[in-house]
Amino acid sequence: MDGPAASGKEKISKYISKKWNLKHLDSGILYRRLALILLNDKIKINNSNEIKKKLREIGNISFRKSKKIRTQKIGNFASIIAVNKSIREFINNLQYNFVKKNKNYRGFVIDGRDIGSVVFKNADLKLFIVVNAEIRAKRRYKQLIDSGEKSIYPKILKDIKLRDKKDKNRKNSPLVIPKDAYHINNEGKFKKTTDQINKLLKKL
Ligand code: C5P
Repeated sequence: MDGPAASGKEKISKYISKKWNLKHLDSGILYRRLALILLNDKIKINNSNEIKKKLREIGNISFRKSKKIRTQKIGNFASIIAVNKSIREFINNLQYNFVKKNKNYRGFVIDGRDIGSVVFKNADLKLFIVVNAEIRAKRRYKQLIDSGEKSIYPKILKDIKLRDKKDKNRKNSPLVIPKDAYHINNEGKFKKTTDQINKLLKKL
């Protein structure tokens, strides 16, 4: 499942994985966790040798969600480091190992930006979640306010548009709609979205 920032992939994935007994992996968490590590360690992101050295040192990173990595600042920084080829290869390998390690599961729901286009090109079902930037910004704003983070709507909208631009225009694994993906509109009621997906899953 791919889609732009704040399109609701997390909520949809959680619902689908529970209903269909599939293992969920949110690849954004990996980019966010790595962003936090590189930020804390003050790694120069323009220095590819320094990044490669650091990735070798890190080896593995946690897949755990936490409030610390859900902030707007970390999301923005994650999209900055996500342009780097070595970083993408590192995170792709973490995803392949995760699937290998959990192969007793009947299947996976994996969400991100390049899952259907690059990382798991042979997925049984590819979904691309579509929501316009204003609706996404409104939802993200509410989410941040509810979680206690100070937020300003116009700034959130600006950040989301910037993140879209970065994700779509980068050279390595840009956000694209895979040819064989179903477009899922998630602008309306959640049930409408999940009904569309459940129908597709039933057909598999
Ligand atoms: O989905 P989330 O907002 O948590 O992702 C944070 C950032 O990580 C995205 O804006 C994107 O730049 C990057 N990302 C990516 N490829 C993925 C998942 C996330 O480039 N598969």
